[in-house]
Amino acid sequence: MVNQEDQLSYQKVYNDWKQDPLGFWKNQAKEITWYKGPDKILDDSKKPFYNWFTGGAINACYNCVDRHIENGKGEDIAIIYDSAMCKKVRKISYLELKQNVAKLAGALKGKGIKKGDRVIIYMPMIPEAVVAMLACARLGAIHSVVFGGFASSELAVRIDDCNAKAIIAGSCGLEPGRIVPYKPLLDEAISLAEHKPDFCIVYQREELRADLIEGRDFDWIDLVSEAEEADCVSVRGEDPLYILYTSGTTGQPKGVIRPVGGHLVSLNWTMKNFYDIHPGEVFWAASDVGWVVGHSYIVYAPLVSGTTSVLFEGKPVGTPDAGTFWRVISDHNVVSLFTAPTAFRAIKRADPKGNFLKKYSLTSLRTLFLAGERADPDTINWAKDLLQIPVIDHWWQTESGHVMIGNPWGIEKLEIKVGSPSVPIPGFEIDVLDENGNILPPNQLGSIAIKLPLAPGALPSLWKADDRFVSAYLSKFPGYYETGDAGLKDEDGYMYIMARTDDVINVAGHRLSTGAMEEILADHKDVAECAVVGISDELKGQVPLGLVCLTDGVNRPEGEVQKELVQLVRDRLGPVAFFKQALIIKRLPKTRSGKILRSTVCKIADGEEFKVPATIDDPLILEEIKEALATIGYPKN
Ligand code: COA
Ligand code: AMP
Repeated sequence: MVNQEDQLSYQKVYNDWKQDPLGFWKNQAKEITWYKGPDKILDDSKKPFYNWFTGGAINACYNCVDRHIENGKGEDIAIIYDSAMCKKVRKISYLELKQNVAKLAGALKGKGIKKGDRVIIYMPMIPEAVVAMLACARLGAIHSVVFGGFASSELAVRIDDCNAKAIIAGSCGLEPGRIVPYKPLLDEAISLAEHKPDFCIVYQREELRADLIEGRDFDWIDLVSEAEEADCVSVRGEDPLYILYTSGTTGQPKGVIRPVGGHLVSLNWTMKNFYDIHPGEVFWAASDVGWVVGHSYIVYAPLVSGTTSVLFEGKPVGTPDAGTFWRVISDHNVVSLFTAPTAFRAIKRADPKGNFLKKYSLTSLRTLFLAGERADPDTINWAKDLLQIPVIDHWWQTESGHVMIGNPWGIEKLEIKVGSPSVPIPGFEIDVLDENGNILPPNQLGSIAIKLPLAPGALPSLWKADDRFVSAYLSKFPGYYETGDAGLKDEDGYMYIMARTDDVINVAGHRLSTGAMEEILADHKDVAECAVVGISDELKGQVPLGLVCLTDGVNRPEGEVQKELVQLVRDRLGPVAFFKQALIIKRLPKTRSGKILRSTVCKIADGEEFKVPATIDDPLILEEIKEALATIGYPKN
């Protein structure tokens, strides 16, 4: 149960928001700097499209950088870059950050980038990635960061979708045991894309310099050395700060739009009220700037709230060992770490007794926040016992931009129920619905849906795809946003997230579409039919498994085809898909109407009990699948 004495506090804030959401967000908007206040807190004149803080004049870079300097905090550290890959540490003050950002913005401006232009950023975890994001924000240009683990065709899809005018890239990324040359991927993407960017800026890392194409590619350092510093450009509160592509049900990713005003206001609110982090403290989101967690909690939230953000390049294990996270926390006095449960599963696997921890003092660390995938009780309990601090699960999505369900640590430290991310956060009224959109009573599993309008930082639509926004999120339950997650609410109002209702899977905290993988496999000349399912994995949460039926007459060795299929997904989607297994079977299990029984396959692979669906075409096929899965070691236990 929620502590009765404290209950008022969270309940009071939540109820205050519910009774007067516009008043609530209007107050929060005062915490950031507007060149001119918004005309309207919420424009709901074009339902189901909602826009927050319309007509206000603002700049994200000003709020994240310049205003701290004007407030005398220029010498404070904005970013601590810690690379376990190249053993470097660099501390960047707000003042230095401003100089770097203003210079790059000047270079971009000199090459014709202006308010509203789209700029793709394809960079590893180096400070220049943050500088590039802020330089775009400074000019009012819309950035779209693409995660380095995606292949060139994924980059090409994004270049085309947003008609990128420029691309800013690093020369390489560093993965354990290998250097990932980004430039060939970039060149390939540009050749695949129909839309061609005007120019590229390449940041040359000393680990691997890239060859530049004359006239199209420019060296970051050269360009910046000649550039004048550019000033912040005022944009409207509802203008897009960025587009972040995320996996949907098809191979075409969804371009989530993030509005400037709502984003800054809500992120600023979460730092204090949710994470309980205050200006001057060191916050570490161990993620990547290519994901939403990186956008929000490596870059915009820590900086808008005047805290210090750790930008870590490396992995929780193997770079060089399972003590890396403890070293970073201890070296930089991190007060709060935010990462995905999979990172802790990796540490636990490598160092189950936590021996590496003995080398470091973690006295600064107050809290561990987990999100991005289901936090399994074993991992939570292991982390809590090891670190002796509260471990706080919280649930959100790329679409929301920040927490939707969580334990509001900065408002009230509610009881932690392991297995539940806790309660809805102000800004989100969350229900569990049945198939017909009726609200389910406590403890019944249903679709998790959120009453419209969403909080100010959430997506107002998809980039140039209003229809898809409506069909993907708003059409199933009128008046609600459909999250794609299934779960339940207990009698205390705590929510539990159980599964996805679509074909999105979560691999090591990375959101991937099995539909996209199926499209790639189906393109192989020998594949007649295929399905991709996400099966449970002790380390990564889920991993994809392909089930493939070959075209009649293919008589090559199966292993050869399997290898090609694995390579195809790696080449087209990227290594991050972690597609390592394609199982060749005679036929796919289907219902009589032709629907593939993916969840039944998952249950067989996971060793869970399953009912033979009444609608199955031929029950014998499940035995065939069982046998085929057994040949590759499933179920594992
Ligand atoms: N550029 C190029 N390749 C990349 C990449 C990048 N930025 N990031 C990952 N990859 C590659 C990896 O090298 C790996 O390739 P491989 O199959 O050839 O080895 C593949 O993509 C899968 O990477 P990853 O998911 O990182 O798996 P891993 O086995 O290397 O590490 C974990 C496992 C658990 C340690 C790692 O997934 C992790 O730290 N996860 C934290 C999750 C996280 O930060 N999520 C963000 C949301 S909060
Ligand atoms: P992403 O958009 O990449 O952040 O992925 C969002 C999805 O990850 C959600 O819709 C959930 O399916 C899953 N997810 C994120 N956080 C949690 C959590 N705390 N518990 C369970 N699932 C989560």
